[in-house]
Amino acid sequence: MLDQVKVGFIGAGGNASGHMQRVAEIEGARITAVCDLVPEKAEAAAAKYGATAYTDYRRLLDEADLNAVYVSVPPFAHYDAEILAAERGLHLFVEKPVALTLEKGLEIWDAIARAGVLSCVGYQLRYSPFVDPIREFLAGKNLLMVSARRWGSLVSTPWWQKMELSGGQLVEQATHEMDLIRYWAGEVRAVYATYARKVHGNVPGITIPDLQAVQLEFASGAIGQFVTSCTGCPGGRGFEFFLEGMKLTYDGNAPVLTPAGAAPLDVEPREAESIDRVFIEAVKTGDGSRIKSTYLDALKTLDVTLAANLSAKERRPVETYFSW
Ligand SMILES: NC(=O)c1ccc[n+]([C@@H]2O[C@H](COP(=O)([O-])OP(=O)(O)OC[C@H]3O[C@@H](n4cnc5c(N)ncnc54)[C@H](O)[C@@H]3O)[C@@H](O)[C@H]2O)c1
Repeated sequence: MLDQVKVGFIGAGGNASGHMQRVAEIEGARITAVCDLVPEKAEAAAAKYGATAYTDYRRLLDEADLNAVYVSVPPFAHYDAEILAAERGLHLFVEKPVALTLEKGLEIWDAIARAGVLSCVGYQLRYSPFVDPIREFLAGKNLLMVSARRWGSLVSTPWWQKMELSGGQLVEQATHEMDLIRYWAGEVRAVYATYARKVHGNVPGITIPDLQAVQLEFASGAIGQFVTSCTGCPGGRGFEFFLEGMKLTYDGNAPVLTPAGAAPLDVEPREAESIDRVFIEAVKTGDGSRIKSTYLDALKTLDVTLAANLSAKERRPVETYFSW
């Protein structure tokens, strides 16, 4: 049991700043080191939290007094920070998507598993109030089909708009919904995806598709479809689960069963947990059992989204790596 959890940050961009604020509010946690390639970002965050600033994560890992590290860099920038941190026995919080290739993700997972450190990936939707009640409702039922959507807007961050840097909306952003689909409906055995560029196709610098439709084949035999868009067309996010004689709908509010009362459904929201508190507590106690998305689990979500990218590119169904 640690009295104090000393935390380092690799990447001090928009997302990391939220984690830093939440970590700083946790009693018994202290941010001791912050690294960013942009010195001003590292220095500003370090000054705010009384930490040491670095521009080279290798130096941070060599010199700083740490128990855990957050890695919050863009998808293309996962090199060896996680591997070096794990080799030093540091517990890891890694932002999704955990890599841009399965090879890199597997290499990092191997280092984490060999070191036996804790890992937690930033799929914070898993900790929101209705997610576990839905999972419990679906468990043991004959799920037939899933229909899900995420309609949103283009993210202005330059790397986000480039396929080779972000992996596209499905890999980078709608990975949250794909991760929930796995959490609820189980593993995906194969995908068949079609993508289009109907709004941003001629905009210089934007290389990601703006419409993505993925057919899903689950290990259970259920099938499904997940569609995403970053065209700015309103639509939000939503999930429908078709079961024998009933349908469960979830859009972020209390889930709705049709017909009402077809089966017992606990729609009482559980208290939302902070993923940062769960992670810091796990590091403090050495007990990772409340972490809902480990690195390996997150790698399986990446696997599905990368399989979809390959499927759309080669216009053929693709089996997921983890289904082999
Ligand atoms: N869980 C969520 O809901 C959520 C929300 C937003 C972003 N994210 C994820 O967080 C990650 C970062 O996103 P962001 O929006 O903060 O991006 P960002 O571009 O605002 O910040 C990334 C930062 O990483 C720095 N960086 C890049 N390579 C580095 C390296 N080798 N060493 C040190 N610093 C490096 C950049 O200089 C930049 O400041 C992405 O993976 C993104 O998908 C997750």
